[in-house]
Amino acid sequence: MKLSELFPHAKTPLIISAPMMGTANGTLAAEVSKAGGLGVIPGGFDFSPSSSHLKALSQELSTARTILSIGFLLFSPTLSTSFLTTALPILLTHRPAAVWLFAPRPEEIASGVLTDVIAALKREGFVVLWQVGTVAAAREAVDCGTDVLVVQGADAGGHQFAACGAGVVSLVPEVVDMLRREFGEGKDVPPVVAAGGIVDGRGVAAAMALGAEGIVMGTRFIASKEAWAPEWRQKIVIETADGGPSTVKTAVLDDIQGTGVWPDVYDGRAIIGKSWEDHVAGMPLEENIRLFKEADSAGDVSRKITWAGTGVGMVKEVRPAGDIVRDAREEAIQLVRKLQSAI
Ligand SMILES: Cc1cc2nc3c(=O)[nH]c(=O)nc-3n(C[C@H](O)[C@H](O)[C@H](O)COP(=O)(O)O)c2cc1C
Repeated sequence: MKLSELFPHAKTPLIISAPMMGTANGTLAAEVSKAGGLGVIPGGFDFSPSSSHLKALSQELSTARTILSIGFLLFSPTLSTSFLTTALPILLTHRPAAVWLFAPRPEEIASGVLTDVIAALKREGFVVLWQVGTVAAAREAVDCGTDVLVVQGADAGGHQFAACGAGVVSLVPEVVDMLRREFGEGKDVPPVVAAGGIVDGRGVAAAMALGAEGIVMGTRFIASKEAWAPEWRQKIVIETADGGPSTVKTAVLDDIQGTGVWPDVYDGRAIIGKSWEDHVAGMPLEENIRLFKEADSAGDVSRKITWAGTGVGMVKEVRPAGDIVRDAREEAIQLVRKLQSAI
């Protein structure tokens, strides 16, 4: 099915705001959706009955009365024990259009947990998006029944597949080719959405040329008026140039900031700062963690981690999320027309 059929209220090309835990929220997602995109609210990863993530999600969903998606991180063991009894009822109460899945433990795909979760979500009428970072993972996601494949390149900000070294330009068309070859061109073949390094209409137009029907932006929305991002963090995003060498893809930063809850198959891309520079210079991990904690409790943000993608070098101002969506979509449409008349 085409993205425009799955999300009839959204405009084409579809622009999705990533479910950035700690940064995205109901207000940001609502503005994205009102501008014709698909706003995704982060739903967290703890599905236990007393989960603070799910309590916060209920609140954010009450704020945002519009066409939305909820993004869940799936690596917690509470996925198999509790998701269907704790998270699903919240979805049924608020009825978002879609559910975004990311980062399951590989063994839970093999054991069939993901197939069951997706089947339950689809039975209740939710569109399921699943973010993957390799061709093999894309194949697994289709086998498990996902409706939409979010294909995340190594250019992406935040967490991603550690094994992924491919940027959007090579990963998206390889996934598209695999889908056509192995699953045909029928209605059941999921549309592809590209994520990683896209911050404006040029990236949107390029992704469409690669075979994507829509795109995801995360880093761009850190510098949006609605984001939960302190001024110092938005300043770093805006001032960082040359996104390749000024960001790094690693698992070490999670260890330093105490978010090492991710399975080994995932790492993350962030802007290079003091913590990474000291690590590269040979500082032992324990010392780096100690300095991080000391700075944090003294209110010194210089050792904090800012997750961001390689597109960060092109983000130059804080703007309303709706304007970011409308301008990127319009720029992409104009670019496609311009390219057409140029040949
Ligand atoms: C600050 C930040 C936080 C993120 N948090 C999440 C998350 O909680 N769940 C998720 O599925 N993806 C998360 N991502 C990854 C996004 O889903 C997406 O792949 C990425 O933002 C796309 O690349 P870009 O940042 O270059 O636009 C995050 C990305 C960033 C930049």
